[in-house]
Amino acid sequence: MRGKNNFYKLFRSKNGNISDNLIINPDIKAYITSYAPETLSVTKVKKNNIFNKAGRISFRAQLNGVPIKIYEAANSNHALFIANISSSKEISFYFPSILYSAGRHLFAKWIDGDTPASFPIEEHFNLLEKIHDIPIESLPDPEFDYWYDFIKPRFKRACELFGEQDLGDEVIKEVSQSWSSNPGFLSHPDLTIHNMIRSCDDGHIFIIDNELLSVGHLPLLDFCNAFKSCSHDELQKVFAMWMEKYGLLDKYDLSILSAAWFARLVGSAFISGNFNKAISLIIQYKKDIYNILPFKIIR
Ligand SMILES: Nc1ncnc2c1ncn2[C@@H]1O[C@H](COP(=O)(O)OP(=O)(O)O)[C@@H](O)[C@H]1O
Ligand SMILES: [Mg+2]
Repeated sequence: MRGKNNFYKLFRSKNGNISDNLIINPDIKAYITSYAPETLSVTKVKKNNIFNKAGRISFRAQLNGVPIKIYEAANSNHALFIANISSSKEISFYFPSILYSAGRHLFAKWIDGDTPASFPIEEHFNLLEKIHDIPIESLPDPEFDYWYDFIKPRFKRACELFGEQDLGDEVIKEVSQSWSSNPGFLSHPDLTIHNMIRSCDDGHIFIIDNELLSVGHLPLLDFCNAFKSCSHDELQKVFAMWMEKYGLLDKYDLSILSAAWFARLVGSAFISGNFNKAISLIIQYKKDIYNILPFKIIR
């Protein structure tokens, strides 16, 4: 029961009361108080089991002996949105089931499996498409927006810091206009192979790292996120697949995508403290806005 002791160290002070001093959010404390605390324990409090994900906590635990992952959504409505996806029949197929949600915290099933050793690019493309094609009408409002709540604020701050407010404002205006007028779709903005787990039981692929699941408005932004780490040849191949399906991109679409991708890259570099990278991205974008994209444009 070593893990359980560690769990108590995390959540409870010496006299057994739940400590107010700890990093854990009141939602989790409420869960522990109202539901038998002996049912929940952190498996091993090791570096690998507690993650700080851009200020949100994520960790591995056990609930009634079942391995789970506890993670934070942006807010309690966003948590409901994710929980809804994981319990909706046609969608839950792709995502680990949510066993419990408490405020903005989600308790997801831990999948016994591994990152796929390889995943054919065609299957990867099909998976992204399937997620994008899932009907979203019956889902609750996520009240979290990948562009407005995640990318835009960090990008704006980076531009202020580097004295590039005008460029930042221009990019934000362009992307926001397009984002707000495009139809919505179910978006997983980090659908890389590293966020897939192949189940040991039946080989089924589950999508993990679902903290940013929401309604997106720029499908090719998910595409760039999903395939950014692929080889040049694979990227060209999968981009050709996209164009065959959806048609060639016009100059306007390409410039919006470049602007959004630029904001995404600068925002990440900035938030991870890699200021040199953020600055070189700005220089690169100012030289040629399309050059920032992970694939080469066929013009
Ligand atoms: N529900 C889950 N089931 C099984 N393994 C998981 C689950 N969630 C996360 N993992 C494992 O933990 C690793 C990190 O989790 P992830 O949510 O992808 O965080 P990040 O990539 O931001 O560090 C994954 O690569 C995977 O090996
Ligand atoms: Mg991940």
